Amino acid sequence: MHFLLADKVPDYAWFPTGASNFVPQVDFLFWAIMWISAAFFIPIVIAMGYFMWKYRDRPGYRGSPEALHNTPLEITWTVIPTAIVVWIFWEGAVGYLDMTRIPKGTVDVQVNAKKWAWNFKYSNGGEDSILCIPVNKDVKLIMRSEDVLHSFYIPSFRAKRDVVPGRYSYMWFRPTKEGIYDLFCTEYCGDNHSGMITKVQVVSDEEYAKFLEKAIREPEDPLERGKLLYKRKGCATCHNAAKEGANGPGPSYNGSWGKTVPLESGSEVAFDENYVRESILNPTAKKRKGYGAASPMNSYAGQLKDEQIDALITFIKSLENEAPPAK
Ligand code: CUA
Repeated sequence: MHFLLADKVPDYAWFPTGASNFVPQVDFLFWAIMWISAAFFIPIVIAMGYFMWKYRDRPGYRGSPEALHNTPLEITWTVIPTAIVVWIFWEGAVGYLDMTRIPKGTVDVQVNAKKWAWNFKYSNGGEDSILCIPVNKDVKLIMRSEDVLHSFYIPSFRAKRDVVPGRYSYMWFRPTKEGIYDLFCTEYCGDNHSGMITKVQVVSDEEYAKFLEKAIREPEDPLERGKLLYKRKGCATCHNAAKEGANGPGPSYNGSWGKTVPLESGSEVAFDENYVRESILNPTAKKRKGYGAASPMNSYAGQLKDEQIDALITFIKSLENEAPPAK
């Protein structure tokens, strides 16, 4: 279960633990604006209440017929707040430029966003559905979206950037603390937007080398390989494999193998190798009944080799014999 912020902040009322180079800058400016606002809000409200009481309409009281001026007071309350907002703009602009200007010699990761999963490709060609990065190294993300507008957000890093279809967007940060952090999509992108979440793992250099090694390998055994790809390629975000009938945005395959399944068009199709293969490469060709609505699945054509599709089929086939959930 994800309780978003509430479970992350035993000691710090508003923010999850900070773990990147941007944290001091962002948190400082946030709290500065917060306290400046409080420092103005409280005296202004007190003065307002006092004046409402002092100049209230009452028998025998007559207010001044014209507006009175106090030039020194008016200059003061114009110049001081102006200086403050200019300072806030300045600090914000400096912070924005620091986030935008990407240093040289970064660890690069390709980020692919799609409804509704994140996929990360590493420098050695390996990939995974979690973002693993080395601690205290500058990391650059080269991000693209396959379909709609998504937004990449790691609250603990105070790092957020839109991922726009049809172009690359970039961001960078330097993780400063080993650990596991949340990664969210923070732009509404359809039915399962709230499920478009994964983890960031910040590790030591040795651990990172090991991770890269693992990310490039796929097990020999087709079933193990299919199981891994099912997670790595994001199938699992929409198609629940664990339980028959546990349907997410897409149907569960558990228990479907070898049966005939109803289609949106009113006809039926045998759930076999050819149907699975066709549905991976051309998902909208034969839509399952009840799944004809908006947000269709994207094609995986060009993203999966034939042996990988074989492995996925082996995995889906293995679900045929899963025991039904205990009553
Ligand atoms: Cu992707 Cu919201």
